[in-house]
Amino acid sequence: MSDKQSLPERLGHDFLRSLYHMINTVRMYQDNNQLIRSSVSVFQNILNELTLSGEVSLLLYRSRFHLGGEKLRYRRDAAFVVYNMAEHFTKRNLGGLNFLKSSSEASPDNIITWARLINDAIRHDQPLQWLEQKLDEHGFSWVQTFPRRDDDVSADGESLEDQRFERARKNYFLAVEAVREVATKVSHGMVGIRKSRRLAQNIVDIVKMDSTLMIGLATLKNYDDYTYAHSVNVALLATCLGRHIELSDLSLEHLAICGLFHDLGKVDVPKEILMKKEPLTDGEWNVIKAHPVTGVRKILMLNSTPSLRSRIILGPFEHHLNVDMTGYPQTMFTGHLSLIGKILHIADVYEAMTSERIYRQNSFTPDKVLKEMWKEAGRIFDKILLKRFIHMIGIYPIGSVVELNNGNLGLIMDYPDENERSLPLVLLLVNDGSGHWQRGEMVYLADQNVKEASDRLTIIRAVSSSRYRINPAEFFLQTK
Ligand SMILES: [Fe+2]
Ligand SMILES: [Fe+2]
Repeated sequence: MSDKQSLPERLGHDFLRSLYHMINTVRMYQDNNQLIRSSVSVFQNILNELTLSGEVSLLLYRSRFHLGGEKLRYRRDAAFVVYNMAEHFTKRNLGGLNFLKSSSEASPDNIITWARLINDAIRHDQPLQWLEQKLDEHGFSWVQTFPRRDDDVSADGESLEDQRFERARKNYFLAVEAVREVATKVSHGMVGIRKSRRLAQNIVDIVKMDSTLMIGLATLKNYDDYTYAHSVNVALLATCLGRHIELSDLSLEHLAICGLFHDLGKVDVPKEILMKKEPLTDGEWNVIKAHPVTGVRKILMLNSTPSLRSRIILGPFEHHLNVDMTGYPQTMFTGHLSLIGKILHIADVYEAMTSERIYRQNSFTPDKVLKEMWKEAGRIFDKILLKRFIHMIGIYPIGSVVELNNGNLGLIMDYPDENERSLPLVLLLVNDGSGHWQRGEMVYLADQNVKEASDRLTIIRAVSSSRYRINPAEFFLQTK
């Protein structure tokens, strides 16, 4: 397969990444630093290969890079570099660079000077004019610059990364509305679930493509009425776990629907009981404990095919039953729980414990919740499923808030490289002084490896997002 790839396709993202690394490294260190030398050599090696048979251009147009006339395809693991390089170009009014064949003869020092000029251009009123003048003065014969095209709307247009967030975001809110609609209508008669089914299919599609983003969105806690957001979050987490253990598409769809409807029975629980701060009386507990059975009754009222109905009943019925068959509702059968029931139970408890509730001021950090849940493996939760869930979520799950070694707080946004679960993409959070948190710089911890060990940003520990009044989902919902 690799021999069919074109040169830009094969080397495009590596080239962009090497350019990005080099520009950032020269900004931080002196010329004789080893890290600069090695970043220049990586850059030059790739450039040599690209210009072997002639000049090659790197153009930015509508937030996409084109190398040698070929549009670089979207790659999640490169999205961060593309995003940052696009910003780098845009801020300098730079539309593109043309590397001539003679670039193989450029000395490392000459390349370092060039990278420094690109960095410095930002400090001038007309960055591109300044840069072109400097390049002229220094007599750079191996590289040319192009201004940004007048018709380029990159800055206002949507990048693919934005579109990815937008699609997930849209489906999230549609799902919340669908659950709300079903929950409010089901008390008054038959409700069709075609819409919910379509949303469940969308959730499955997105989870299959991009489960990390969905785990991030599942941190949304305070959307209007928490019960509906909770149901969507449980659906997302359960579907992600189902995907993680390689369930079929149809099973994933059933799992998503079960997640959306698992607490349908709570519609009949009075708000005073759900919101009560004081300990519940026995009578009130009994009302709460009835919700799985009430839920099943409501699912039976849904206007769907008998076969679908039969597949989405068991999970919601069992979602508060433990694997040792304690919990509620107590049943006559002593057998074992269904797979969907066991998955829902894990997703439900994790979601609820990481949320701030009326009777609990602060939510627990995800790592703490997982630790507590693990103590109950084999008794409350299925041990193998819980193990897979913990593996899927990771120590610092997407959407968790962490303290960094420089004292800053950061939000875990993504793990761009699926195989590197210890190197997340972190959004630095900046307190504006009035208690509000703003987006800071986006740092990819994998890129910290180019720095000296003492300069590297590392994660110290997870902290409670509610303690700092941070709503992680907000940062997933606004990409800029
Ligand atoms: Fe429940
Ligand atoms: Fe629940």
